[in-house]
Amino acid sequence: MKLTVVGGGSTYTPELIDGFARLRDTLPIEELVLVDPAAERLELVGGLARRIFARQGHPGRIVTTSDLDAGVEGADAVLLQLRVGGQAAREQDETWPLECGCIGQETTGAGGLAKALRTVPVVLDIAERVRRTNPDAWIIDFTNPVGIVTRALLQAGHKTVGLCNVAIGFQRKFAGLLGVTPADVHLDHVGLNHLTWETGVRLGGPEGENALPKLLAEHGDTIADDLRLPRSIVDRLGVVPSYYLRYYYAHDEVVRELRTKPSRAAEVAEMERQLLAMYADPALDEKPELLAKRGGAYYSEAAVDLAASLLGETRSRPEGRSVEGGGGRRVGGSPYQVVNTYNKGTLPFLPDDAVIEVQAAIGSQGPVPLSVPSVDPLYAGLMAHVTAYEDLALEAALRGGRDRVFRALLSHPLVGQYAYADALTDQLIAHNREHLAWA
Ligand code: G6P
Ligand code: MN
Repeated sequence: MKLTVVGGGSTYTPELIDGFARLRDTLPIEELVLVDPAAERLELVGGLARRIFARQGHPGRIVTTSDLDAGVEGADAVLLQLRVGGQAAREQDETWPLECGCIGQETTGAGGLAKALRTVPVVLDIAERVRRTNPDAWIIDFTNPVGIVTRALLQAGHKTVGLCNVAIGFQRKFAGLLGVTPADVHLDHVGLNHLTWETGVRLGGPEGENALPKLLAEHGDTIADDLRLPRSIVDRLGVVPSYYLRYYYAHDEVVRELRTKPSRAAEVAEMERQLLAMYADPALDEKPELLAKRGGAYYSEAAVDLAASLLGETRSRPEGRSVEGGGGRRVGGSPYQVVNTYNKGTLPFLPDDAVIEVQAAIGSQGPVPLSVPSVDPLYAGLMAHVTAYEDLALEAALRGGRDRVFRALLSHPLVGQYAYADALTDQLIAHNREHLAWA
């Protein structure tokens, strides 16, 4: 099997490599290609990647290249994990919206729209080149904003699944709190990427006993602390919102906080400097501790599971059970995985072509969402609102123009007022001119 990682020079990559090395029985990679335009950085990351494989006795070959076409040739799956404009562009996204009293975040609100506008055309171009050399390859999109980027890819007819680590993070966390293995925790996970709620925590599978009430009763403080929300709000909801919901439920509070501290981009840029210095050390042959301070925990495991399911690899996880039947492969004892894919009636209050983030059965034909019980209007309303925004955001990303940017911002539940939408539109365009072909 050949796998290609676009954006392979990311400082995140050793997390991915570590997962590939540990889970080589699940996903037997023969050749791994890391593609990145930043050649120097790619060599540092590639060197460490090879040492991690060697230390863990992984027989696979690791190739590094800045030539995308050569890198994707013959690949069975292509993983996209790129960041157009790097941390510098992210820093902008996190900063200028604050001047208007709006959240400054890389995937939520106006900053997220800026990222979508920079990213969608680049990703579509990459996907087109993948399809030209390799029409059967699966594209796994980890590139943010995952919901909008995945929708752009699906709409253009690409074989794509969108992936995020929020769900697997909750699965691991809850398993630890409940004292069970992660494979035994099945989340009722519903929403859009970075706008999700865990409405049930089932033991053993989708029909299993719901341990969420017990989890909240016994570990509500820990869960609320992690989310940085008051325990009382989590109790009143009775479900666990993702930490991205704090940008909605505590918007003004977060804006005040963000105004008084360095941006996450600045923190990450500093960490990246340290990480790259570590990667340059030929004695280092494992992922450094510092990487755990990045947000990508368990990303590698989710990616391995997804690629193995899409590519029809036979798998068994030491911590999981083997489950037969259903035509698909099994994810650590469960046949299901949380992914981003077309709604197609799963959430009846959203258009069929909205991209949602839910549990799905994954096979070689792609994901098929599990049915979702009726959703409380408290969450359904926000999902519908943000779906409309994503629709307009994609329009703006594909066709450009000030008016389309304005419409997307006006539609966003965290913007809404024309004066803010106008000011943010001007800022967005001014700060992203070099990345926007039409501006
Ligand atoms: C989580 C999110 C990702 C996001 C990351 C940011 O993993 O699911 O979508 O890219 O956090 O982490 P960072 O360390 O870059 O702030
Ligand atoms: Mn994510």
